[in-house]
Amino acid sequence: MRTTIPAQGVEKERLLARMDAFREQDADWRNGRTWSLVYYAGDEHHDLLRRAHAKFFAENALNPMAFKSLRRMEAEVVDMALGLLNAPPEGVGTMTSGGTESILMAVKAARDRARAKRPRLRSPEIVAPRTIHVAFEKAAHYFGLRIRYAEIGPDMRADVRAIEKLLNKNTVLVAASAPQYPHGVVDPIEAIGALAQKRGIPFHVDACVGGFLLPWVERLGRPLSPFDFRVPGVTSMSADAHKYGFAAKGASVVLYRDMSYLKHQFFVATEFPGGIYASPSFPGTRAGGPIAAAWASLMALGESGFLDHTRRALEATDRLVAGIEANPALEVVAKPDATLVAWTTREPALDVYTIADRLEDGGWSVDRQHKPKNIHCTVTSNHLPVIDDYLAAVSEAVDYVRSHPEVASRGNAAMYGMMAKIPFRGMVRSSVIKVMEQMYGPGGSPDIDPGQQDGLVGRLLGQHGAKVNQLLDRWDEWRRALTGKSD
Ligand SMILES: Cc1ncc(COP(=O)(O)O)c(C=O)c1O
Repeated sequence: MRTTIPAQGVEKERLLARMDAFREQDADWRNGRTWSLVYYAGDEHHDLLRRAHAKFFAENALNPMAFKSLRRMEAEVVDMALGLLNAPPEGVGTMTSGGTESILMAVKAARDRARAKRPRLRSPEIVAPRTIHVAFEKAAHYFGLRIRYAEIGPDMRADVRAIEKLLNKNTVLVAASAPQYPHGVVDPIEAIGALAQKRGIPFHVDACVGGFLLPWVERLGRPLSPFDFRVPGVTSMSADAHKYGFAAKGASVVLYRDMSYLKHQFFVATEFPGGIYASPSFPGTRAGGPIAAAWASLMALGESGFLDHTRRALEATDRLVAGIEANPALEVVAKPDATLVAWTTREPALDVYTIADRLEDGGWSVDRQHKPKNIHCTVTSNHLPVIDDYLAAVSEAVDYVRSHPEVASRGNAAMYGMMAKIPFRGMVRSSVIKVMEQMYGPGGSPDIDPGQQDGLVGRLLGQHGAKVNQLLDRWDEWRRALTGKSD
């Protein structure tokens, strides 16, 4: 049944109590049980963010002339990020609502810059390693570009020669990550920068995760080669304040080497009867709260606060990696450069998605990845107190899955396993769309039983889950034997 606006407003305390009830089944981020989605720097910081956000929750950064306070804080956040990432004095940028918007803007700016220089350009292309964040594919999809993926090396980093092979006269942007999300390694930014500069192509470094993290990792003395504007070929970067900047959600920056790049991000309409309209980024109305909270976060933590959080996050990461590697059944997919860890099983028969299900039964939120199948942990200072608990839960889950082989063909493990392995990716896509139709359809709910989906994958799973997964495993083995490729 459709929810309607109540005839009479509901009393405020009752409403707030209902919202608390809505939350009861949410992931427990405060106690370090989630490994992404929430970056939590403790209660005191959290309270400051709320107060800063609330101060400016009504204001609208759409008109910086009306709200000079917001323009000032945005400019200072951008400045702090430019300084942190070693931009030249001409460096510029804007705040956005998040990493995806920063990337969308960088792609749009690169496309429009290329078009301004070469009006006959018909089919603009982005070249990036396979591990680049999916926001680039989204940008290509929205803005009519083609994205060409370069294979990565065995260490999961971008392969510079593979990138070089894909460059052509249509390439308007090269992109790489510092670090990439799936395995937490930094791409060879210096080598890609040299290549991009030689070919005169703009180069975006996606430091959405790393922008407010790697500079501190470096200052703590961990070996990292330059990943920011120190590399001459880097023309733009994205860095999320709402990740390791510990700001409130809805805060990122997109930065450019100088105004000749940023100006192509802007949108101006001169004939709208509502007046001349100028907008720096995607939205019209721009929330003031996230800008204010980002400013407050950077100011309140200061260098000492960031160094302290980074030190603890690195210690937690080191202990997580050591604990995983100490289990003969497990391994990390790549040695992380910072605090993002992907781990998996060493034995194909020990299914990592079944281990994930067992961890979830124990109250841990799990991020499953594929190609190859693994579990992802974005580690923060908030995880340091729970690393031992997590490692104990992982070890218990490994033992449990080993002694209960029948659980592999059930529930989430079966569904994710099938989704990862089905060779016809169009089928997977249409099944996911079906799930979304259910979730966002009338009366949609997030409680979807994978075996009850309308789509073909759902039907296969519901009726023949175990058999189909076995067949897919066999297919995978043949494919590996034929191609020599592990995934
Ligand atoms: C490397 C990287 N880039 C971009 C993004 C997108 O950021 P957002 O989710 O804030 O849009 C993410 C998110 O995890 C990321 O890890």
